[in-house]
Amino acid sequence: PTSLSGRNFLKLLDFTPDEIRYLIKLSKEFKNLKLTGTPHRYLEGKNIVLLFEKTSTRTRCAFEVGGMDLGMGVTYLDPGSSQMGKKESIEDTARVLGRMYDGIEYRGFSQEIVEDLAANAGVPVWNGLTNEFHPTQMIADMLTVEENFPQGLKGLKFVFMGDAENNVANSLMVVCAKLGLHFVACGPEARMPKADLVAQCREVAAETGATITLTEDVKEACTGANVIYTDIWVSMGEPAELWAERIKLLEPYRVTKEVMAMASPDAIFMHCLPSFHDTKTTIGAEIAEQFGVTEMEVEDAVFESTQSKVFDEAENRMHTIKAVMYATLS
Ligand code: CP
Ligand code: NVA
Repeated sequence: PTSLSGRNFLKLLDFTPDEIRYLIKLSKEFKNLKLTGTPHRYLEGKNIVLLFEKTSTRTRCAFEVGGMDLGMGVTYLDPGSSQMGKKESIEDTARVLGRMYDGIEYRGFSQEIVEDLAANAGVPVWNGLTNEFHPTQMIADMLTVEENFPQGLKGLKFVFMGDAENNVANSLMVVCAKLGLHFVACGPEARMPKADLVAQCREVAAETGATITLTEDVKEACTGANVIYTDIWVSMGEPAELWAERIKLLEPYRVTKEVMAMASPDAIFMHCLPSFHDTKTTIGAEIAEQFGVTEMEVEDAVFESTQSKVFDEAENRMHTIKAVMYATLS
């Protein structure tokens, strides 16, 4: 039987395919408990701390509700309200929090920071997004894919469109390699996953039957796809000045009705969110005014279509983060 007791959750490259499948299975069990109203306060008496150096809706709320459903006490530290990085080193912060809490979530900048926290905390550390990776998102995404393709994940064609160099694209490439999906990164040459990560994933893929394809050709990428996934064109921590350049670079990779029509008839659309696919947000309105662009990485018509599973995906963050916490703390 698989046990992840006491483990960190920093990046999926650290986990075997069986361990990842175990987390997905556990997530389904937690989803069932939640949906049937069955109490599951399995970690009563434990406490966790959520350390955020970037903003969040889904990840923070998933850790908070997940933690509370499991019976734990939860502390949220927002960007700027702890001493970390300003008056106190990461190492010292980790040693202090590790004395008080049973688990630590970190969202922030470089992967090195979360690795450093984990090396010094003495309790499990969970990566809630870094510049390089977003591993908790992946368990939710694979659960969502499995819910729509109950025949199994192996062999599905999974396409990421747009900024294929970002944390979400990197992580999707890793999880697809681990679980035997055919991953396609479709975007401009200038925004492809780094060569060393691609090489690592291809090594994993050779064992699982997965394939990794990088292409600039939308038609080649999307024809016959089972999943079309995209993410915001400028990520948190990147300068807002990049918008002009990114819009120019990434507009050919917007997920439109035409793109969805190239995919398999049973294809689904996914997005980790947030997305300002309309101009109701302040950034959306600013960009519309500055660049005259009202549709960004995904057209409204696709985002709101029945093929779009983005809100199931968002809900699944909670069930899957609960599974990650339970597996590592129990
Ligand atoms: N998908 C995701 O991580 O969303 P938040 O930034 O709202 O946490
Ligand atoms: N790539 C995005 C993901 C947000 C969940 C970012 O890092 O801002």
